[in-house]
Amino acid sequence: MEIHKADIIILGAGLAGLRAAISAAETNKNLKIAVVSKVFFLRSHSTAAEGGTAAVLYEGDSYDLHAYDTIKGSDYLADQDAVEIFVRTMPKEVLDLDHWGCPWSRLPDGRIAQRPFGGHSFPRATYAADRTGFHALHTLYERMLIYENIERFQEYFVTSIMIDNGTFTGLTAMNMKTGEYVIFQGKALIIAAGGLGRLYSFTTYSHTVTGDGAAMALRAGLPLEDMEFIQFHPTGLVPSGILITEGARGEGGYLLNKDGDRFMKKYAPQKMELAPRDVVSRSIMWEILEGRGYSGPWGPYVYLDLRHLGDEKIKERLPAIRDIAIKFNNINPKDEPIPVRPAAHYTMGGIQVGNDTMSPVKGIFASGEASCVSIHGANRLGSNSTAECLVFGDISGRNAALYVEKIQNIPDLNMDKVKEEENWLYKEPFKERGSESVATLRRELQNTMQEKVGIFRNEKDLTDALKIIKDLQKRFDNVYVEDKNMYYNTNLMTYFELRNLLEVAEVVVLGAIARKESRGAHYRTDYPKRDDVNWMKHTIAIKRAGKIELSYIPVRVTKWQPEERKY
Ligand code: FUM
Repeated sequence: MEIHKADIIILGAGLAGLRAAISAAETNKNLKIAVVSKVFFLRSHSTAAEGGTAAVLYEGDSYDLHAYDTIKGSDYLADQDAVEIFVRTMPKEVLDLDHWGCPWSRLPDGRIAQRPFGGHSFPRATYAADRTGFHALHTLYERMLIYENIERFQEYFVTSIMIDNGTFTGLTAMNMKTGEYVIFQGKALIIAAGGLGRLYSFTTYSHTVTGDGAAMALRAGLPLEDMEFIQFHPTGLVPSGILITEGARGEGGYLLNKDGDRFMKKYAPQKMELAPRDVVSRSIMWEILEGRGYSGPWGPYVYLDLRHLGDEKIKERLPAIRDIAIKFNNINPKDEPIPVRPAAHYTMGGIQVGNDTMSPVKGIFASGEASCVSIHGANRLGSNSTAECLVFGDISGRNAALYVEKIQNIPDLNMDKVKEEENWLYKEPFKERGSESVATLRRELQNTMQEKVGIFRNEKDLTDALKIIKDLQKRFDNVYVEDKNMYYNTNLMTYFELRNLLEVAEVVVLGAIARKESRGAHYRTDYPKRDDVNWMKHTIAIKRAGKIELSYIPVRVTKWQPEERKY
């Protein structure tokens, strides 16, 4: 058994995780910080972020405007005090990254460039061509390397969070290279393990995004917030689902139906293609459902047309999109439009935390997509996610450092629980019980979520989905991991991931069944109106004695009263 001890353990090494590590290390150079991830850090899903990161940098923009856009975009479910912290802190994050070497795109006069993004009333998406996440993550990674008190644990699959007497004590994990059982003991944990988008079959998410953080938190008794709100990005490349950045529309790209019509003028006459994602995604689906989409062997689609931007601009501003279209679809966007349809892209909900990123359990913090602060409410604006990772990653790192400074010793682990987990990990997956495979169950889960818990939802589909998920959870007991090799056993890792997906799927669906209104990304065809009287509240899900219980807490409103959302 490997045992590692640290003051702060950070689970996840994307933008939030690395930003937290840097912040904790800067706050106190004597702390021992362990960053743990199931992937090599630079393969974290943040690297796939493309179009930009929102910040108020220039005259004409203001904190209030950014806050208002974000709150209106959230369909008034965001906690407004959290949004205010977010918008005020974000400019510093852009400048810190600049000083640490992030190659932001520039205006001709040398200042940092920004581009328009959906739902923002000022062009405030700060970008590095269309590889913003890639460059931001590499910048943080390099910066992290200067701190000798940050230890890196790459390719460690964490399986459980240990809490004793209401306090965090450690993590259990498997070293993916050797198969060895691993214990991380610490005074504080920051969960920055990302979202859960591989619940869906058509998605922009990397294969690694399997809700591990949320599922482990749920099993450990932590509350999850607003999990029913799943964002669909309007432009997933058909058929792969790869993200075609909103930056493409920010640079002037059009959406066209099969009649060659810029249909967004019907749905969002002012903002057109740059309305928020929930609005644009629904509009595309309405076009498709009413027969104005294209159909192909890989399902329906509309076109994203960049031809009028010209080759030079496409190469300068959207080089990754050009590359992706050429390599995956044999399409050069200067000559041909790109086939797209909405793809699962983001989890608005997550582990419930306060503005200080602290969860209700002593010593556990969360930031980034794994958390719900909540600044995105029912619908996140594009470019507010990388920004959130930076702002709240920083806050979580600093607050965790201040928290552990007050604690003398690393708490003891409950060794009975550690042994119990070891037993489960090394025996349960290999029991020869049946013929179910990880791949079959995962496919059924993803298809169910895609068809019944997607952009349009209704009572019957959602209750059917719940039944199927419950049945899949039972069938999971008959899944058998055939590969017994313990070195890089990907069969085993996908088994752990499927277990996590099945747990969080249930929470998403239960929240969606209960919420009898339409708000942001949660659109109920049987309740098509927003209902502020009964539903302007956050959903909280907790697992007790194997059952998920839902309750509700109020939204924190400061100065922006709900109004009709028109674009
Ligand atoms: O379209 C995009 O580039 C995605 C950005 C985001 O999700 O914030």
